[in-house]
Amino acid sequence: MRVLITGASGQLGTDLLDAFSGRLPMAGDPAYAEGHLSSAHEVIGCDLEQFSLTNAAATMDFITRAQPDLIVHGAAYTAVDRAEAEAELAMAVNRDGTANVVAGARAVNARVFALSTDYVFDGTASVPYLPDDHPNPKSVYGATKLAGELVCGPETTIVRTSWVAGYHGHNIVKTILALGAKGTPMTFVDDQHGCPTLAADLAVSLVRLATIQPGGIVHATNTGATTWFTLARTVLDEAGYDPEMVQPIATEKRVPAPAAVRPMYSVLDGEALVALGVGPLPAWEGSLRRLVRLLVD
Ligand SMILES: NC(=O)c1ccc[n+]([C@@H]2O[C@H](COP(=O)([O-])OP(=O)(O)OC[C@H]3O[C@@H](n4cnc5c(N)ncnc54)[C@H](OP(=O)(O)O)[C@@H]3O)[C@@H](O)[C@H]2O)c1
Repeated sequence: MRVLITGASGQLGTDLLDAFSGRLPMAGDPAYAEGHLSSAHEVIGCDLEQFSLTNAAATMDFITRAQPDLIVHGAAYTAVDRAEAEAELAMAVNRDGTANVVAGARAVNARVFALSTDYVFDGTASVPYLPDDHPNPKSVYGATKLAGELVCGPETTIVRTSWVAGYHGHNIVKTILALGAKGTPMTFVDDQHGCPTLAADLAVSLVRLATIQPGGIVHATNTGATTWFTLARTVLDEAGYDPEMVQPIATEKRVPAPAAVRPMYSVLDGEALVALGVGPLPAWEGSLRRLVRLLVD
């Protein structure tokens, strides 16, 4: 297959490039050294440094030249708090950019995996969200990602994930490690519940999903759920720092309050992926600890 990856320089996009081209994501990790990636594809990446997906003509031109069979659309405006003040830009990238990708895919008869987010939900549930549960985003970012889902046709596979961290790019795990190394005390909320997801695990699952291309919505996260507080303590513990450096705080006590409202509960039900024979992804804690070991080595 020829696979085009948008957002190829991003956190997930970098692992997607490696996974689809048959290179092992997080090289040297024994978890990936046992034939998990049996087939290599021809892979093309693009990112903002080449052109903006908000440019319909440039997007169409790139896709028709590339002639992909599958587009994994990972590019997005992902600055959750900044989006509250940049709603127009976030909507242009996350809705219109996605529409441009889908139009290009239709022109060359390619299928699309469109990455989306747990932030399309309002977080009032108390059991894991199913793909067909009613979305009700509370943030601009969540609203723009939902708008991006809605411009996709039924042939597109919408892959919702959550709390992504990987070896490449910026993420909260790296921030926690940097603060831990300096011995800086920190607080993390212990009342928001979600599923941490290792970018490499997600990338590998998308390689497997590429043989199926089911259409519709699937949820793809590491297995299990936790809070940001427990995640932060796990990172410090695995790195050999004192976990007591992080203390719990209630969301309503955060000062200053972050600009965007996050769902208090955004655990995604991954059974649809399991039914397709792709999941489950590994348990979050083992994957997070593997990532920490790679980052501190
Ligand atoms: N990170 C998470 O916790 C999380 C959770 C749920 C879902 N997701 C979804 O997963 C996907 C990948 O996330 P990620 O964490 O890998 O994000 P990321 O690191 O921010 O990567 C996104 C990439 O898209 C590029 N991009 C931004 N605007 C663009 C434009 N107009 N045209 C072309 N490219 C553009 C960015 O370039 P610049 O860096 O130059 O802006 C960046 O390289 C996204 O769809 C995101 O919404 C992420």
